[in-house]
Amino acid sequence: MTRLSVNINKVALIRNARGGNLPDLRKFAIDCEKFGAEGITVHPRPDERHVRFDDIPILKEVVTTEFNIEGYPSKKFIELVISNKPHQVTLVPDPPGVLTSNTGWNTLENQSFLQEVVQEFKQAGIRTSLFLNADITMVEPAASTGTDRIELYTGDYASSEGDERLLQHVETARIAHNMGLGVNAGHDLNLMNLKRYVDSIPSLLEVSIGHALISDALYYGIQNTIGMYKRLTRRI
Ligand code: PXP
Repeated sequence: MTRLSVNINKVALIRNARGGNLPDLRKFAIDCEKFGAEGITVHPRPDERHVRFDDIPILKEVVTTEFNIEGYPSKKFIELVISNKPHQVTLVPDPPGVLTSNTGWNTLENQSFLQEVVQEFKQAGIRTSLFLNADITMVEPAASTGTDRIELYTGDYASSEGDERLLQHVETARIAHNMGLGVNAGHDLNLMNLKRYVDSIPSLLEVSIGHALISDALYYGIQNTIGMYKRLTRRI
């Protein structure tokens, strides 16, 4: 089964536009779970334009499914995650100020850094996932860091035509799975491209989806939208 984790960063972005507490992120996370979300993902960026660092303990208190925190492992981020103990931390290589996470780690170049950070999280009892491009050469050095999972960056799949990119994802996921790594995926997944991806990768454990899902909720409402996405993650 592939679990649906809803990334609520864009909800925080709307809240931050006015400086008050509308929409209420805490309530939104609770309601997403009530409507069937199997996880809540947040990505506190250094400029806090979306989810803020002080949102994390509030969300930690109410999330009852899987709480996943994504981010670049700066000292501040590591401290935040360890003190709030989510179920999973997803490490991304974003430079500060980047618009969105649009590439995975070069695990060859960053192997010892990642190994150190992964061990720190694992000692704190937090599952780790490394954001990776669908590139088979990055899998073995990722596995050697001791990470539990990888998250495949799906932006290239979403913008591609034909089967070539998808097949690279299938192969990268297969190799990772055979090495004992769990496989997650995310970025630019939507109602049009999700089912094909899920059906192609039987070992896929989790998708985290934010931008398209929150945009769809403007038309369909969040309850319907979560149902629509969830149906696409079920294999017959
Ligand atoms: N995975 C990672 C590592 C991300 O940074 C993001 C965007 O914050 C997502 C998944 C979700 O991407 P999208 O918002 O395009 O669904």
